[in-house]
Amino acid sequence: MRKIVIALDGYSACGKSSTAKELARRLEYGYIDTGAMYRAVTHYFQEHNVSLSNPKEVEKALLNIEITFICHPQTGDNETFLNGLRVEDVIRSPKVSGQVSEVSTLKVVREAMVAQQRKMGKKKGIVMDGRDIGTVVFPDAELKVFMTADMEVRVGRRQKELLEKGQMVSLEEVRENLEKRDLIDTTREESPLRKADDAFVIDTTNIIFDQQVEQILNLANDKMIEHHHGEDIGL
Ligand code: DC
Repeated sequence: MRKIVIALDGYSACGKSSTAKELARRLEYGYIDTGAMYRAVTHYFQEHNVSLSNPKEVEKALLNIEITFICHPQTGDNETFLNGLRVEDVIRSPKVSGQVSEVSTLKVVREAMVAQQRKMGKKKGIVMDGRDIGTVVFPDAELKVFMTADMEVRVGRRQKELLEKGQMVSLEEVRENLEKRDLIDTTREESPLRKADDAFVIDTTNIIFDQQVEQILNLANDKMIEHHHGEDIGL
């Protein structure tokens, strides 16, 4: 069966990453968490006091940033490395979460990330999650999914996730962060979050995790068959 690109976009805390990981594990595909890339850049800028309002400084800093992933195919897990150092935990901290949307509005940052993401997906066989994957990074992705969920459900899920990691945050703090990020992500000038016209919408408010994974796997299978036949008849 031909390998395809699966683009998973949507709001923060809708279950994109856990869904993408499970899809990658089941399909034996690679998984790229593009949010982790913007988070790693934000962490670097914070550590090096890069001024976001100084384009020259931002551009220079980007030249010193190398982001890599180590994938664990058995679990679908992914670990993020910044210039060779594991940053998987620190990039999920409130400090990074509080600034990452702002950093991802910068055109130069997006251009650098999109170029890397396209390289990573060149050989297909990947699940990539983010905000602009189906619209900008891979507008020709064979399967595009747009995930949504009610705000209160998202807040509850994200708080649980953070508490499990030992980060004590109130529902209000989580809600405030998600609302702020939704607003910045959907209204920014550079590739704002929006559903691609040909994306399937999955609302995860009332469905359990296994159901959302099954739904996407079914769609992926259909697309793989379509793609396979397309190749056979020379399309
Ligand atoms: O998926 P996440 O919550 O880890 O993403 C963190 C932030 O990065 C999100 O608020 C917006 C930004 N982002 C983006 O602009 N484009 C992407 N493809 C992925 C994330």
